[in-house]
Amino acid sequence: MAHILILSGSPSKTSRLNGIIQYVQKVLEGKGAQVEWINVSNLPAEDLISARFDSPAIQQANESVEKADAVIVASPVYKASYTGVLKTYLDLLPQKGLAQKVILPLFIGGSIAHLLSIDYALKPVLSVLGARTILAGVYVVDSLVKWNEQGQVELEAEVKQRLDDSLQELLEETDWHAKRRKDEAVGKVAEDVSSHA
Ligand SMILES: Cc1cc2nc3c(=O)[nH]c(=O)nc-3n(C[C@H](O)[C@H](O)[C@H](O)COP(=O)(O)O)c2cc1C
Repeated sequence: MAHILILSGSPSKTSRLNGIIQYVQKVLEGKGAQVEWINVSNLPAEDLISARFDSPAIQQANESVEKADAVIVASPVYKASYTGVLKTYLDLLPQKGLAQKVILPLFIGGSIAHLLSIDYALKPVLSVLGARTILAGVYVVDSLVKWNEQGQVELEAEVKQRLDDSLQELLEETDWHAKRRKDEAVGKVAEDVSSHA
């Protein structure tokens, strides 16, 4: 079973990003994945602002990242980039904390003008953290997402379709990586056995 971590960085409790993530979580769980969601704004602010690498809450979050096969990095677009809230946590990840993970960026923005912020702002950071399998990502314009009176998110069909396609790709890539790691481990054992024969 794939273990998928959603790392989100909206400072707003009513962010439409959270509604999109609820949808993402439901789809992934429906396909048998184990999903964990860390909203960075729920981590202790003092630890984030003071870059406390040794904080128990930060260490626990880092363990969740370490355990994950795939990470969805989600943010609203603020000032043509991902949020500062998200960066305060990314700065506290170990040097190669995203190595071996499949990554799916997920952004929501007020306009399509900053569509490329995933590529010019987030992807270099993911890369420096060791990520090598970074999917194209999903960028949603916020007018296509609404909270209804029941407090549930309503997504335009076109957004659902793009999310569904990207989540399917994420699961397939994650599965492929897990199989490759297993084959490599088996190959290594066979090599060790033959070198000791
Ligand atoms: C401080 C701030 C800066 C923003 N900067 C941008 C921006 O540069 N480009 C953009 O497309 N939207 C920008 N937005 C709009 C948000 O991306 C958009 O409203 C948000 O993603 C929708 O999620 P929400 O429900 O959390 O508001 C900004 C919003 C805020 C509050």
